[in-house]
Amino acid sequence: MNQAEIDFFDELAPTWDENEIKSTSERIRSILGKLRISKGMKILDLGTGTGVLVPYLSEMVGKEGKVTAIDLSEGMLSLARKKYGDLKNVEFLKLDFEEEQIPGKYDMAMLYSVYPHLHSPAETMEWLFKMNVKPDGSIVIAFPSDEVFINNIHHERNAEHDHLPPAHTLAEMINNWGFKAEVLAATPEEYIVEVKNR
Ligand SMILES: C[S@@+](CC[C@H](N)C(=O)[O-])C[C@H]1O[C@@H](n2cnc3c(N)ncnc32)[C@H](O)[C@@H]1O
Repeated sequence: MNQAEIDFFDELAPTWDENEIKSTSERIRSILGKLRISKGMKILDLGTGTGVLVPYLSEMVGKEGKVTAIDLSEGMLSLARKKYGDLKNVEFLKLDFEEEQIPGKYDMAMLYSVYPHLHSPAETMEWLFKMNVKPDGSIVIAFPSDEVFINNIHHERNAEHDHLPPAHTLAEMINNWGFKAEVLAATPEEYIVEVKNR
């Protein structure tokens, strides 16, 4: 992430939760319910923002599991810490997950409403699989909407470069990079692509 992107998210942070109308509790539970998350799992929440997924992941992995929530925007991360800093099985790390080393091995890495912001998605996935995702683990690319909604938002913000292809197109691209991608949902309410290592 460059400084302009960090500033962008820092500025959005104070009003993020009130504007994040798609991430209802019901929608998040439905998306996470499709991912075979169980007690004891270790999960990375990459680009956690204000931590919208954090309480749900924390509950699903239980006290024997762990959630590591990462963001580079201090504005976003400080709100996440404020809301969920008391949860015992959650840790917050401020780092650039495309540039810096994340400690530990995980069963799943979530990219929830984050994928269009990646600078080098293929390299980042390769690196995450090599360094942080367990051999049978996965990287999950998810949104609480379809790509049309996301691309409209980015269009309104003059950020067309943050384009999101339809789920099946993205899965095909990822397969061409040498990973195994499966579309778990492609509806107006849910976009989920699960990626495994080759
Ligand atoms: C669109 S927001 C989504 C936040 C949250 N997942 C949600 O759905 O509310 C994207 C977040 O990813 C973070 N982000 C993007 N690229 C990142 C990177 N390379 N390292 C750390 N954080 C990153 C941004 O700071 C921002 O908070």
